[in-house]
This record gives sequence, C-alpha cells and structure tokens, in this order.
Amino acid sequence: MAKKITIRVPQILPVGGGKGGIGKSFIVANLGVLMAKQGIKVALVDLDLGASNLHTFIGEARCHSGLNHFLNKREVSLENVAIRSDIHNLHLISSIGCTEEIANLFTAQKNKIIKAIKKMPYEYVLLDLGAGTNYNTLDFFLTSDSGIFICTPEPTSIENAFKFIKAVYLRKAKRILKTKAFKPIYEQILSKVGNISKQSSKFIEAVIQFDPEKGAMFQKQLSKFKFKFIINQFKKSADSMIGQKIEKVCNRHFYSEFEFLGNISYDERVYDSILSKKIFVSKYSYTISAIELNNIAKKIVGNHIDKIPQPLIQNEKF
Ligand SMILES: Nc1ncnc2c1ncn2[C@@H]1O[C@H](COP(=O)(O)OP(=O)(O)OP(=O)(O)O)[C@@H](O)[C@H]1O
Ligand SMILES: [Mg+2]
Repeated sequence: MAKKITIRVPQILPVGGGKGGIGKSFIVANLGVLMAKQGIKVALVDLDLGASNLHTFIGEARCHSGLNHFLNKREVSLENVAIRSDIHNLHLISSIGCTEEIANLFTAQKNKIIKAIKKMPYEYVLLDLGAGTNYNTLDFFLTSDSGIFICTPEPTSIENAFKFIKAVYLRKAKRILKTKAFKPIYEQILSKVGNISKQSSKFIEAVIQFDPEKGAMFQKQLSKFKFKFIINQFKKSADSMIGQKIEKVCNRHFYSEFEFLGNISYDERVYDSILSKKIFVSKYSYTISAIELNNIAKKIVGNHIDKIPQPLIQNEKF
C-alpha cells in the first residue's frame, strides 16, 4: 500500500492597510512574538520592499536581506534565507537592502515569492505589507483566504481603510471573473458597463443581475475571502464602538465577511521599546496595549494557543 504523505501548509496572515504609519509592522512583530511564545512556529516576512523595517521592531538591527538574496540568487525556498531570531520559534525574512528595482517587482518575481510563501514549513506566516493599494500589495494580501487590515480611529485612516478594502475586493472580483467559468459573462458585461476599474460596485451587481445563477456562484467565491481588522493607536477620546460600527457597515455592503479583532491602545512606551531595541510585548507585557495584542493573538490562533499556556516574561530582550 502506498504511504500516505501529509503536506502541512502554513496559515498565512497578510497584514495591510491603506495608510502608512498606522502600525502594521508593529502589530506583525508583536503578534508574531506572542504566537511564538505559545510554542507556535512562526515566520515573519517583510514585504514592504522599498521601506523595510520589520527587523527593527524585533530588535534585529544588523540582519541580512533574505528576500533580496531569494530574488537575485537561484534560491527556491524562503526558509533558507530566514534569520533565526533570539526568540524561540520565531524566524524573520527581511527585505532590508532591497534595491529600488526589487521594490517594484515584476509579475514573475511576485509570483515566485507567493509560491514560496505558500510552501513555508511554519504553522503561521505573517506578512508585513507596504502601505497603499498597488497591485503587488493587493496580490500579497490575497495570498491567503483571509487578511488583516489595520486602521486607526482617525477619519482619514478609516477613509483609506475603505479604499484599501474596495481595492482588494475588486482585485479578487476581477480574478474570479477572469476564470473560465466567468470569462464569457465578464466580456459581455464589460461591453455594457464599461471599464471594471471605474465601475467596481456597479459591475459586481451587474453580474448578479445578468445571470442570477452565475451571480450566486460569483458571490459564493467572493465570500471565501474574509477580512479581519484591528483598530490601532486607540485613544480614550475615540468612539469606543468604532470597530463594531465598521464591522457592521462592511458586512452589509460587501459579499465578504468582516471580523473586528479588537482595539490596541495608543501607548507612548511603543516608541521607547523601539529606541531600546526591545520587543514591546516583552518589555511592557503589563500594559493595556500588550494585553490587547495578546487577546488578538489568542483570537487569531483559537484553540492552539490555549493548549500551550506560557506566561509572558517581563524585561527580556524578546
Ligand atoms: N499602539 C501604538 N501606540 C503608540 N505608538 C504606536 C502604536 N502603534 C504604532 N505606533 C508608532 O507608530 C509608528 C509607525 O508604526 P509602523 O511602522 O508599525 O506603521 P506601518 O503601518 O508599518 O507604517 P509603514 O506603512 O510606513 O510601513 C511606530 O514607529 C510606532 O512608534
Ligand atoms: Mg511598516
């Protein structure tokens, strides 16, 4: 009898958002540490190719560029260019030193990265994405069947978050419509509705109205992608229900599901932890923000984290 081979695929968690400076890298680093401390094998991948700084959040000031090496040399697996961090179970693939050329990836390079991420031998792979909605960022966000977007309670940040959601949603919709099952209907509607990029929501409705059966299939495929989100830099003056409100609005307007993972409070000591090259959740594990980050990590990994309880150790490097 043939031997049964089980291939383990990692849970990929892309972390993005419309705006810069909202805390994507801070959150990726700290969630990664919290998961690793619970005995989960985690890799962090810095995909902010032009402006990489994830290494700084985990106190790795002098690291080599794994991604640069992966793209320039004939390296086929990303784990071979990963740095083992000082924290047990936590690895980093940095993009420090990626040239401007690499920051603007060609499709083949992007696909090479995505393919390799999907094969990484870790339980969780967290992707730190750059700000904005360029196609590379959107495609990295769609590497998984769910992604986390970050925003702050500020109106400008929420506005950018909506732009980000719409861009991801449209990119996903386009991908579905270009598949064999939908291509004929896509072309017919294109001739009536016009350019999809200018008529995003109208176009989705048009497919549903044009052929209800195909429309239902389309809706089902769209709903396979789930959005999760975090409100970072939360301050007391902000609306305490803002996350729940965004969740409600989005679940009403999109065919994808939205889940609010929680708030992370603003804390001046984040700055201090970066300056002192210490991981925030380790140095300041007693703060509200660290506890909120821990609750979010638990929510993400579910039962896995409860099985291996490990208290946070204060004042260690990681
Ligand atoms: N909860 C918080 N409380 C206080 N300061 C925070 C918090 N989260 C992030 N910051 C601060 O905001 C700065 C920007 O965070 P970070 O670099 O993680 O944002 P980003 O979204 O990754 O930005 P970019 O898009 O430029 O990569 C950090 O240097 C940190 O000092
Ligand atoms: Mg960042």
